[in-house]
Amino acid sequence: MRRRSVKSMQRFYNRLYPFYGIIEKSLDATFERIAAECIATIPEVRRKSALEYACGTGLLTFKIAPYFNSVVARDLSQKMLASARRRTGTISANIQFLQGNLLEIDEAFETYDWVFVACGLHLFAPEQGTAILSRLLGVSREGVVIVDHIRRWNPVSALIEWIEGSHYDTFVKTNFREVAECIRARAFEEQLIGKCSVMIFRK
Ligand SMILES: C[S@@+](CC[C@H](N)C(=O)[O-])C[C@H]1O[C@@H](n2cnc3c(N)ncnc32)[C@H](O)[C@@H]1O
Repeated sequence: MRRRSVKSMQRFYNRLYPFYGIIEKSLDATFERIAAECIATIPEVRRKSALEYACGTGLLTFKIAPYFNSVVARDLSQKMLASARRRTGTISANIQFLQGNLLEIDEAFETYDWVFVACGLHLFAPEQGTAILSRLLGVSREGVVIVDHIRRWNPVSALIEWIEGSHYDTFVKTNFREVAECIRARAFEEQLIGKCSVMIFRK
């Protein structure tokens, strides 16, 4: 299997960003539903803060921002972030786009109410994924929401992910309920919404 280093992944997304609109189009309706069905139901969500890692061009960021008081969105790729920032108008004044690496999470303990990663966790090997989830759960006050591939192997996704150099093959086999126990999440739930699996690790 072909995997990328952090530098190679950054170069890949710095080159891919002009074409990312194709992926956005295929995920737009699903992310809209995720915001409406999962975020809108969080009690007092308008008073709460969110952190999103691997935000890319901000597809999920712009969907969740209207529900939260503030959102900080981080990504490794400067070009993906620049593309996200270009879309930030006055209606998105509560979003801050910053560079950040999921392998070097430096936010302090319980800084944000909720933490999100959309289509980013499958980029990492299982042990790295568990370490990332554990760090993110620490950063959150209420929980972590992971939006990613439905964990049923699919040849088209496998081909795309091979090009991306991700860990799709192991991601689809991971038992996230066990991971939730391992990182001491208080509760774990997984649901399918549109084209994605949404996993919530509660604190
Ligand atoms: C498949 S895209 C998902 C983008 C966006 N969340 C979405 O759903 O459209 C994966 C994103 O992860 C970012 N990424 C890759 N490795 C990362 C890392 N180590 N830390 C933070 N972001 C990373 C890439 O730059 C890219 O923007």
